[in-house]
Amino acid sequence: MAKMAASMVESGEDVFRKIFKFYKRRHPPPDFSDVIDFSRGVKHDKVVQAKLDPAVVSDVDAARVGLQPVRDWRAFGLQGYPGFIFISNPFLLGSQPFWVRQCLKTYPQKPNICNLDMHMSPSETQDIWGKSLHGLSSPPSGKREPKTLLERLRWVTLGYHYNWDTKLISTLLSVQITAACGFPGFNAEAGILNYYRSDSSLGIHVDESELDHSRPLLSFSFGQSAIFLLGGTRRQDPPTAMYMHSGDVMVMSGQSRLLYHAVPRIVPAPQGHAPLKMDGCNPALSLQDSTVVEQISEQDWAVCSKYIQSSRVNMTVRQVLGPGQSFPEEPSHHKKTDAGRTVTYHDEPADEESGKMKRSRCDC
Ligand code: OGA
Ligand code: MN
Repeated sequence: MAKMAASMVESGEDVFRKIFKFYKRRHPPPDFSDVIDFSRGVKHDKVVQAKLDPAVVSDVDAARVGLQPVRDWRAFGLQGYPGFIFISNPFLLGSQPFWVRQCLKTYPQKPNICNLDMHMSPSETQDIWGKSLHGLSSPPSGKREPKTLLERLRWVTLGYHYNWDTKLISTLLSVQITAACGFPGFNAEAGILNYYRSDSSLGIHVDESELDHSRPLLSFSFGQSAIFLLGGTRRQDPPTAMYMHSGDVMVMSGQSRLLYHAVPRIVPAPQGHAPLKMDGCNPALSLQDSTVVEQISEQDWAVCSKYIQSSRVNMTVRQVLGPGQSFPEEPSHHKKTDAGRTVTYHDEPADEESGKMKRSRCDC
């Protein structure tokens, strides 16, 4: 595969697209042997250890948001990608279900905007969780049943209007991770959630909307695994393929914020990666009064676990403004959703949301 990439780059063609299609291919399935697996440590010649600052986040603060002590995090860099940090699942055992529930039950609520709002009325997309409960918790009837709203959810945007301080406790999570990575004062201002079924992919793009590129972007992965492609500043630059498993966190800052990337494929979470199992007796989760991560109910977990058995959720948190910058005073409806770029989602034709779907977050 590396050889294939090298031979393609010579001709100056769109190498990224070729490799995207290579990993997306179903028949025959691609060879995954070149895909970097950070959960296996520094096994690849491009992977280097990254140094974090354990002193800036106390163990108690880390545990409040469901994270292990920073000294136990396994963090890596990639040669040729300055500003890129990969943290291999820093979550405490049993804390991921809370974050999965946030992504499935809390964040899709209004006023946040989702793909379903593009062709459904606000009342129809109110309470996506509640309307999906029955379909997701009852055993399969054997008949072909219509997909629940949750199963048809592809993206949710948490824009500038979102009250991050009171509602989105992932602010706290993001602040601690970025601080440990050497970025004090991170301000979570916008978020995007992507929901992938086993046959979904996310097209090749650059996230260039944010005004201040010096601020890092955080990306979290929950549920099934993904193949993530990180390329260069040009489509001719061959991308590096890596797995994102449940709980993995990517921090992209500086140069790596402006690189082409894509998710060509969702792959089953490997055996032994069972971080999502509910862990009834994790003392770190129940000891502190101030903890934001709490044990979720059995009922909520029944729905979440069923969902993530075949899906992946990606949460991206970003700071939009630099020091001294401010949001437009009266943002238009469009501006509220997030500053813009267009990403193409692909699902297999068998899927109800078939074909290409655009998540347009244009503020122009
Ligand atoms: C995005 C994105 C990648 C992922 O939302 O812009 O690149 O891992 N997501 O799902
Ligand atoms: Mn992106």
